Amino acid sequence: MRILQVCAEIFPLLKTGGLADVAGALPQALRTLGADARVLLPGFDAILAGLQSPVELASLQPPGEMARTPARLLLGRLPALGLDAYVIDAPGYYCRPGGPYTDAGNQPYPDNALRFALLGWVAAELGQGLDPAWEADVIHAHDWHAGLVPAYLRAAAPTRARLPGCVFTVHNLAYQGMFERACFDTLGLPAHFFSIHGVEFHGALNFMKAGLYYADRLTTVSPNYAREIQGPEQGCGLDGLLRARAHELSGILNGVDGAVWDPATDALLPACYGADDMAGKARCRSALRRELGLAARADGPLFCVVSRLTEQKGLHLVLQALPALIVGGAQFALLGSGDAGLEAAFRDAAAATPGSIAVRLGYDEAFAHRLIAGSEVIMVPSHYEPCGLTQLYGLKYGTLPLVRRVGGLADTVADTRLETIDTDATGFVFDEFSPTTLEQTILRVNALYRRPPEWKQVRSRGMAQDFGWARAAGEYLALYHSLTPV
Ligand code: ADP
Ligand code: GLC
Repeated sequence: MRILQVCAEIFPLLKTGGLADVAGALPQALRTLGADARVLLPGFDAILAGLQSPVELASLQPPGEMARTPARLLLGRLPALGLDAYVIDAPGYYCRPGGPYTDAGNQPYPDNALRFALLGWVAAELGQGLDPAWEADVIHAHDWHAGLVPAYLRAAAPTRARLPGCVFTVHNLAYQGMFERACFDTLGLPAHFFSIHGVEFHGALNFMKAGLYYADRLTTVSPNYAREIQGPEQGCGLDGLLRARAHELSGILNGVDGAVWDPATDALLPACYGADDMAGKARCRSALRRELGLAARADGPLFCVVSRLTEQKGLHLVLQALPALIVGGAQFALLGSGDAGLEAAFRDAAAATPGSIAVRLGYDEAFAHRLIAGSEVIMVPSHYEPCGLTQLYGLKYGTLPLVRRVGGLADTVADTRLETIDTDATGFVFDEFSPTTLEQTILRVNALYRRPPEWKQVRSRGMAQDFGWARAAGEYLALYHSLTPV
């Protein structure tokens, strides 16, 4: 089976969040199961730099306004991933200072509709034989950036005998790719697609809605989030459509890429370790404390956060709970970047209590590994969380997750209570989104920490969980098979 994955970022070449981790791991996991997976990516500088032996497959002639920006399709190899990749080389769209979606001042590029419509259009062309040597059976599009893939495929349907099946995966429903109505007229889609039964959403063009409306199957990244987004609270205005398509929507939990995240082999750590020999973890913790200027000893555990600093992640709860956390004798370290107000508040907290709180602002892959390995607890108190990966990394690294019972966090962490400690506890889970509840949960963490045998029992159970990609890849493969004629 040939599967084309379409996404805007991919680890290790370009990453702004968990989407890149998934995009990097899933095609490889599919290949391990015998499927023939390739990816299609926009030609951002970092992607082009990682593409080996590119050959030009076609000079592209997209419709509408996109025709004005020269673009060609390359096929090359991503040696970092052992994967063949199609890359859209359109420097006018993709080679800019700043990030993939926003400029250096963090503002969305004004032509984002065209930049990502091109991704959708090229995917649909690949679905119609643009590369005669490799025709996909299924195209799998990720998040709003690839939301127009199924729309362009549908637009081609009347003239094609056979098109590949199309799966659309929601990684975060809150980011929808909304543009003014006038943008729609520049994309070369049939006029009647701008309808409530199509890409229109409250008078605007909505890429996420296009994906949800036109794809053959919908998935999201945890079973619990698949349920949550069908309700008004988490549906971001699209819950009606999701309810209408409920029988075609499923939740497939993300995995952890064991080649990147495994404490037994992680070359980014000062010392490796495993469940049967945790000495390396103690070394990681000492090294981390030295690196961050934290006191060499503490009466409580070392808590950490590795996160984008956005409203979604609930980090103002952590800010409010920090005084109680350090009064209890624990320490806290954060790696993150994003919202300027949150960055300043965490920086101030660290400046006020340097031996107990450490904050590193920015994006640092290697430090994320050292921080997760060296800490004892990882906090993910999200307001909402489609899946969440850092709590999974925490489980694997013997760093107990403290999470809110929401989205994929609820699917992956089992709370520690008297009645669960001997059976299934792997971390700490709280319900109410309030600093008081977080503080109470921190007290529960500290109480367990004072009981080393029980702490180790919960930690070992967490480390033994299997969150490898094989299960998720198997579920995706079954879904792809359901879309292809036998
Ligand atoms: P989201 O995709 O919503 O940001 P996830 O938990 O799914 O949340 O994935 C976040 C990914 O980004 C993880 O791999 C995490 O380690 C990484 N990450 C987040 N912030 C940083 C940072 N400041 N530096 C390095 N890695 C980070
Ligand atoms: C999104 C979500 C996150 C999820 C990631 C990968 O960024 O916010 O919860 O883990 O996508 O699917």
